[in-house]
Amino acid sequence: MTDPLKTPEIIPSLFAADPLRYCDALKAVERSECRRIHLDIMDGHFVPNISFGASVVAAVAKEFPRLFREIHLMVQNPQQHFEAFIKSGAQRLFIHIELAPEVLAGAVHCLQSKNIDWGFAVNPETSIETLQTYQDWISKTQHLLLMSVHPGFCGQTFIKETYERVKELRGHFPHLKLCIDGGIRTPEAQRLQELGVESVVMGAAFFKKVSV
Ligand code: DX5
Ligand code: ZN
Repeated sequence: MTDPLKTPEIIPSLFAADPLRYCDALKAVERSECRRIHLDIMDGHFVPNISFGASVVAAVAKEFPRLFREIHLMVQNPQQHFEAFIKSGAQRLFIHIELAPEVLAGAVHCLQSKNIDWGFAVNPETSIETLQTYQDWISKTQHLLLMSVHPGFCGQTFIKETYERVKELRGHFPHLKLCIDGGIRTPEAQRLQELGVESVVMGAAFFKKVSV
């Protein structure tokens, strides 16, 4: 029987913390059982918000080297920034599959030539059929970041259709480790655990729970 209190691995999203207290927030992450940190990069074009850049990733890497750094790139031209993020200590990069096709092709080609762990991030409205057209690329990756909110902001409401999408994705791409991102609190995390999800990003709910 599934343990009802079990959740997938929780990966806190720094973007949801008080920007004037990132250091305290990261100390709270270290004190918790979490071993990874999710860093949301937004350029104000791919999503209607701006977050932070490679200098923040470098500072996190320097001061909190034990936290595995995964970078969620919500930017129109990610390839332009790969070098900077890798240099600053990124350990896994996620690029959005909804990028313009030629931009996506260039980015995938570039990532495949680098010694970096990477995967696709997928928006709530992107169909499984669309993903199937990228089957070849997806089969070469191990991780998929499935959005359960429209990207751009933390503290949004979890989109319930995500549960069905998880089941579909599991069926079509059984090799993938799924990480679900957006609007997740403990109840959603528990339900996702029952669906076999490996990890969840938690922003607002995480930083509300821990004392920073
Ligand atoms: C949304 C981001 C998420 C977000 C998670 O664009 O990709 O990672 O910061 O925060 P919560 O859990 O508050 O939705
Ligand atoms: Zn994210």
